[in-house]
Amino acid sequence: MAVGIFDSGLGGLTVLEAVQKRLPDVEFVYLADSANAPYGVRTADDIYNLTCAAVQRLFDAGCDLVILACNTASAAALRRMQEGWIPTDKRVLGVFVPLIEALTERDWGDNSPPREVDVKHVALFATPATVSSRAFQRELAFRAIGVDVEAQACGGVVDAIEDGDMILAEALVRSHVDALKRKMPEPHAGILGCTHYPLMAETFQAALGPDVTLYSQANLVGDSLADYLERHPDKIGAGTSAYLTTGDPKRVSDRATQFLRRQIIFESA
Ligand code: DGL
Repeated sequence: MAVGIFDSGLGGLTVLEAVQKRLPDVEFVYLADSANAPYGVRTADDIYNLTCAAVQRLFDAGCDLVILACNTASAAALRRMQEGWIPTDKRVLGVFVPLIEALTERDWGDNSPPREVDVKHVALFATPATVSSRAFQRELAFRAIGVDVEAQACGGVVDAIEDGDMILAEALVRSHVDALKRKMPEPHAGILGCTHYPLMAETFQAALGPDVTLYSQANLVGDSLADYLERHPDKIGAGTSAYLTTGDPKRVSDRATQFLRRQIIFESA
């Protein structure tokens, strides 16, 4: 029995960890498209084609439900996939909506009209493709009014994390936070809009200061997935847990083990 979790690389492991904790009896097949990461600097067409191929691989592994634990794929490809590519017996969910529901103080699936919320100035940190899709602002506008969003495209951070160069990743995070603060000096909330960024959460928090509330997806997605599976137990699917990568399994396993501080063994997808 397995649910598919997809990311371009290692970032989705932050989501996987949280959903495994929340749903210890569910098996998960994780797929990292390491050979093609990062997605954040690719065109929307490219991201769509790569995401469809990866999700198909998870369907073939027996997953009836796939979580795109990748904001870039959720922002640039999910809507187009839902408009005609996904077979009727399968389901693909993104990571944007649970985050926006938390930010706008809404329960899962609350589709009532947009309303005023407490948070007024929001700093969004995401990949260049996610920022240029404006998907975050679109989803937010369905739910909240009067929220000012300043987005910072954090070029280079995902590459540095995938290469295990945490010193470079930290320096880049600090310079992206500085750039954001020049545009919005006093954000109320910081959104880590890329599943790689929770691996740098301490650096984001230190650079933003203690008064800024940081939102990241891992726990929020865990809760909304648990809620979804309670209502759709048939979507748990078939298959056994596995970690798959389109890249070099040894290299990807070493990095994943370093990040999660427990042994993770990837196999070739
Ligand atoms: N971790 C992914 C995201 O949430 C993808 C980053 C990338 O491949 O550029 O956007």
